[in-house]
Amino acid sequence: MKNLENKVAIVTGGNSGIGFATAAELSAKGAKVIVTGRNKESLAQAEAELQVTGIQADQTDLKSIDSLVEKVSSQFGKVDIVFLNAGTAAFAPLDSASEEHFDSIMNVNVKGVYFTVQKLLPILNDGASIILNTSVNAHLGMPNSSVYAASKAAVLSLNKVFAVELASRKIRVNAVSPGPVETPLYGKLGLAKEEVEGFGAVLGEKILLKRFAQANEIAKTVSFLASDDASFITGAEIVVDGGLTVNAVV
Ligand SMILES: NC(=O)c1ccc[n+]([C@@H]2O[C@H](COP(=O)([O-])OP(=O)(O)OC[C@H]3O[C@@H](n4cnc5c(N)ncnc54)[C@H](OP(=O)(O)O)[C@@H]3O)[C@@H](O)[C@H]2O)c1
Repeated sequence: MKNLENKVAIVTGGNSGIGFATAAELSAKGAKVIVTGRNKESLAQAEAELQVTGIQADQTDLKSIDSLVEKVSSQFGKVDIVFLNAGTAAFAPLDSASEEHFDSIMNVNVKGVYFTVQKLLPILNDGASIILNTSVNAHLGMPNSSVYAASKAAVLSLNKVFAVELASRKIRVNAVSPGPVETPLYGKLGLAKEEVEGFGAVLGEKILLKRFAQANEIAKTVSFLASDDASFITGAEIVVDGGLTVNAVV
């Protein structure tokens, strides 16, 4: 069912992984989709494969966000759906994590989300839907994940406050919190192939459904939150983790 026809949607980090799958899903539902990212080649690939519009933007750079807003406004007018998906993950133990580690994660995952939403406000239609991509890590005490987990927990706080502040414009704000999803993210963690595989095997066992998610399973949740089917849902978090966070210790 094409239930997003005549909607304009922005997916940050729409040139890879969960963002790419979501751009495909929203587009299939009839939305006009704009994807952002820093990498020109993968943006061009998304444009060609998905028939979407790619706009190069670095979500950590406020001038770059201004330019994104200007381009979207002049090419599309107002926006109905925003998926704040661009994000980064890296892991380090508390006793040796560097300032660079802290800043690089917080800059994309928190500052980028905050100012992208702020700067898009003037071009959002009343009744728009904002979806924030967080992570089950916000709820877990996974070793070495402190900065990443805190960045996603911060986004869960933004979710609630944004929902309250934007309710007068009937703008709904919700979060999706994926568990492990098969995406290129794991190749960017700086871990050896065997370490990624070991990590995957342990996690796979903990997940009730015994597998990682596919990116399109997250995309379908985002598409639901973006649509009128979720018209009474705001300030909520949907956990999409195959039962990872409810699995019993024994
Ligand atoms: N994969 C998982 O298991 C998992 C689980 C829970 C939550 N998540 C969250 O899902 C989101 C997407 O991750 P993914 O797994 O799909 O990883 P991915 O394939 O590595 O995608 C990350 C995306 O973010 C973009 N990005 C990163 N920094 C950016 C910046 N400064 N400005 C603009 N775009 C930027 C990347 O594009 P460029 O490199 O071109 O900039 C890329 O499109 C992240 O927020 C992540 O924390 C992932």
